[in-house]
Amino acid sequence: MDDSVDIRRSVPADEGALAHLYPDAFPGEDLLPLVRALLREEAGVLSLVAVKDGAVVGHILFTQGTVDPAGERVALLGPLAVATRVQRQGIGGALIRAGLQDLAQMGARSVLVLGDPAYYGRFGFVADHGVEPPYPLPKEWREAWRSIDLDDEPGKAQGTLALPPTWMQPALWQP
Ligand SMILES: CC(C)(COP(=O)(O)OP(=O)(O)OC[C@H]1O[C@@H](n2cnc3c(N)ncnc32)[C@H](O)[C@@H]1OP(=O)(O)O)[C@@H](O)C(=O)NCCC(=O)NCCS
Repeated sequence: MDDSVDIRRSVPADEGALAHLYPDAFPGEDLLPLVRALLREEAGVLSLVAVKDGAVVGHILFTQGTVDPAGERVALLGPLAVATRVQRQGIGGALIRAGLQDLAQMGARSVLVLGDPAYYGRFGFVADHGVEPPYPLPKEWREAWRSIDLDDEPGKAQGTLALPPTWMQPALWQP
């Protein structure tokens, strides 16, 4: 990635930039209500922005949760957005890697994602059949439900992902 891009935690003053970034990266989808609701759940959320030439050009959110019944600490990745004018420069990858590093330090055992298998596969996310999402996924989305381990401890988390209330809406888990 270009050295002129910085990755840092987001601050409330970034909200205006995010209001431009999301419609640009996701023209057919309004993800801002979800992003704003997650940012209000500060305690359980890791929010990073990529800054280039003083402008926010990328954003990633991770929501911490548990795999129950054992209560293992994990996180869910999403959403991730990079401004169209700077895509394919490694910014999305840099946001993912920075987030995984922070989450490992915060004690998360693994990170789950519901996303394009070809894209997330590049970063080591593999299909997860041990952790069930909060709501059953349609069959065609099973390959998109992936995870990456952050520690070397044996015994993968097994059970159902429990997340803060914002994610507990069936519509977010359906096509
Ligand atoms: C997906 C997205 C975050 C990638 O960000 P980015 O900064 O362009 O990604 P990177 O530069 O780190 O990686 C780009 C590489 O991934 C590939 N790639 C990008 N999107 C991909 C996809 N959906 N599937 C497979 N590969 C993809 C590119 O071909 C590129 O590879 P190349 O440079 O070898 O050709 C960005 O394109 C985006 O915001 N898209 C719209 C929103 C979206 O789909 N978000 C992700 C789901 S939450």
